[in-house]
Amino acid sequence: MRVPPASISFTSEDISQITAELSESLTTGALTLGKHGRQFEEEFALLCRVPYAVAVNSGTSALEIILRAIGVQNREVIVPTNTFFATAAAVIHAGGRPRFADCEPGTFALDAGSLRACLNANTAAVIIVHIGGLISPRISEISEVCRQVGVPLIEDAAHAQGSTLGDKPAGSFGLAAAFSFYPTKVITSSEGGMITTSDEAIYREALIYRDQGKEGFATNYHVRLGYNWRMSEPHAIIGRVQLRHLPEFIDRRREVAQVYDRRLSGWHGGIHPLNVPRGVRSNYYKYIALLDPGIKRATLKTALRDRFDVGLSGEVYETPCHQQPVFRGYPAGRLLQAERICAGHICLPISARMEVEDAEYVLDSLEKALESMQTVQAAVVD
Ligand SMILES: Cc1ncc(COP(=O)(O)O)c(C=O)c1O
Repeated sequence: MRVPPASISFTSEDISQITAELSESLTTGALTLGKHGRQFEEEFALLCRVPYAVAVNSGTSALEIILRAIGVQNREVIVPTNTFFATAAAVIHAGGRPRFADCEPGTFALDAGSLRACLNANTAAVIIVHIGGLISPRISEISEVCRQVGVPLIEDAAHAQGSTLGDKPAGSFGLAAAFSFYPTKVITSSEGGMITTSDEAIYREALIYRDQGKEGFATNYHVRLGYNWRMSEPHAIIGRVQLRHLPEFIDRRREVAQVYDRRLSGWHGGIHPLNVPRGVRSNYYKYIALLDPGIKRATLKTALRDRFDVGLSGEVYETPCHQQPVFRGYPAGRLLQAERICAGHICLPISARMEVEDAEYVLDSLEKALESMQTVQAAVVD
């Protein structure tokens, strides 16, 4: 593809280093819960400026472990409906029930008013999701609401490695946070996840849950209903190499985003940037652009792919959780803002491998695709 929706970045030096470290692990047999996992945890905790991090095998397991450590059995967890399936599914797997809340158009994240309306005596926790890498400036208000009612706030920071609000990094706002290193993310360990927390009790519980609920590594004495949620050494080796590049990956993504911002801000073509609020430094996991109601997203995506070889990445998100068949029956009202958000945006291609010229090409293609769509529409009206 001339411009793919996303792509991963490994230099030849990275590949050599990964190969050498893998070779050492294969030779020594240190393949899980070893030094690379521990170092990855230390380095990631430093990034998030928290004392503790626990490496696991996915972002989904990071969420479930946190929820199990808090204890949400037979209770409700408030989940913004505009999120990935895994956020809500983890609640159910941990024995809780998601209650879906609305999202705000400015950041696509949990709406503070809707959160207040959802809270009740059976609320065990609240999850906020940093959509596209953007931390909502309302997180301090949301955090305060949670504090007042004594309910923990959890960050689903799957999108937000290296994002900040003011001088605080993602992963340091809630009682605990869950990150994902799935290959489309800003950094990857191929598969993998990380829990960050400043709470020692949550940290200790997470270590137990991650390894089959065992009281300690060397025992077979099981004190929790854990699972095999361990991160292997090969995954940790890949993740550490990627983490070293995170600042430069984000810088490149920001450069691409600035090209998009500059041209889309003055545009009258029916597409506008989602403005990143002041004080927020997004890692630009996604570049979100808002569509005027008349623009058909599916037609636009097909035109960009077939005529210009440009791939738009997946939306965040196309269908809100409360409209997913699998979550039918869980409490949610009509969540109109989220429904509009989901229907009314696209995500332009962005990655650490894109050049400024690629971004210009995407915008030229977008302009031409929209022009031809408007011509066809005008002909239909005539
Ligand atoms: C918001 C969100 N939460 C959780 C996850 C789950 O992460 P993983 O795929 O690593 O299990 C993802 C993954 O894409 C995500 O986007």
